[in-house]
Amino acid sequence: MTLSSSSLSSWYNRVLELARKGWGDTHPNPMVGALLVEDGEIVAEGFHCATGKAHAEVEALNALGRAPHPGASLVISLEPCSTHGKTPPCTEAILKSGIQSVYVACEDPNPQHAGQGLDILREHGLHVQVGDPDVRAQATRLNFIFNHNMQTGRPLIALKLAESANGKLANEAGTPSRVTESDARADMMQWRRLFPSICVGSGTVLSDDPSLTARLPDDTWCPLRLVVDSTLSTLAAGVSDRALYTDKYAGKTRIITTDHGLAQKDRVARARELGITILQAESCPRGRVSPLCFPEVLTHLGVNSVYCEGGARMAESLYEEGLADYLFRYRSPREFLGPHALPSPIPKKLRLRDPLEVQLGPDHLTHGFL
Ligand SMILES: NC(=O)c1ccc[n+]([C@@H]2O[C@H](COP(=O)([O-])OP(=O)(O)OC[C@H]3O[C@@H](n4cnc5c(N)ncnc54)[C@H](OP(=O)(O)O)[C@@H]3O)[C@@H](O)[C@H]2O)c1
Repeated sequence: MTLSSSSLSSWYNRVLELARKGWGDTHPNPMVGALLVEDGEIVAEGFHCATGKAHAEVEALNALGRAPHPGASLVISLEPCSTHGKTPPCTEAILKSGIQSVYVACEDPNPQHAGQGLDILREHGLHVQVGDPDVRAQATRLNFIFNHNMQTGRPLIALKLAESANGKLANEAGTPSRVTESDARADMMQWRRLFPSICVGSGTVLSDDPSLTARLPDDTWCPLRLVVDSTLSTLAAGVSDRALYTDKYAGKTRIITTDHGLAQKDRVARARELGITILQAESCPRGRVSPLCFPEVLTHLGVNSVYCEGGARMAESLYEEGLADYLFRYRSPREFLGPHALPSPIPKKLRLRDPLEVQLGPDHLTHGFL
């Protein structure tokens, strides 16, 4: 049975909603939703909830608990996989189920696999349809981290900056400043929840003493927290214990340092006492942790992406080395006019690729690819 375009559009909205239930939990896999339609009604739904767990199509078929009726349709947010991974190919499960019509919001982003799953289904005589450009764009964007990994073979490095209307990150360098209001901050928490790791420079740890957790309405979640600190200054005598090193998520904090940092025996000893793991990285000519080691460090840590929350110097290094792939730029209407206000390192008129714009109370977010 062919679905009408208005039903199809609502089924696509629903599979995207289902896919989002895996928000932050599916890495390194994509978020995927699927549903089964019989006689114009949804009869079963599924989503991919975590790597190693059943894929969305299989979840939906299992949820049905019987063979689909002849004429049933399957709607999926992403092209079904056609190769053996941790689970068997979903194309096999679909063919075995007897379903004759498959609607897919977008194709597999991996250039080596794109279209293959659809070709297999078509070769077996199934009706296969891909979403219109709008649906395709929404479904593709949802998995921007996964897509980047597939297309480049590298982790995705995202920068997040909150700027005042006159392009400053703080009213005074080295002091915490409230830049955005509650809606924008709630939005940042959702992005923190998506990324498996989060990163800041030592300057931000010293000035703001952040916790870097995702504080959501019904839950608090902690990503892997990375502090880039060439000399272990955040562990120096006289610096009080930072939240990242002492809170209940301290086991999820890693410090990235250089040989200069490791030479500071008292600071290394303090990290050991606190149970914080230190990772050694190459230093750049200025003696800092080389930003070029970032992709390798992330791969070593088994994370496919990082949400880098600054501050100014950390963001500047990543941006200038061309290592940042994605930017979240929050803009507040407030102005920081003090003589020591900290300028954003990102050019004011920078154009992002495929930008998305969101108004969040008085603040505005633009995010997109660098
Ligand atoms: N509005 C926002 O979005 C936002 C976000 C975060 C922070 N902030 C504000 O920004 C200020 C802190 O910014 P910041 O620039 O002083 O500190 P930062 O960027 O957090 O940290 C900079 C420090 O990180 C260390 N580092 C190690 N390797 C580095 C590398 N490759 N590149 C750059 N830094 C490296 C350096 O110290 P060592 O050489 O000692 O390692 C450097 O001084 C605070 O006022 C904070 O409130 C604003």
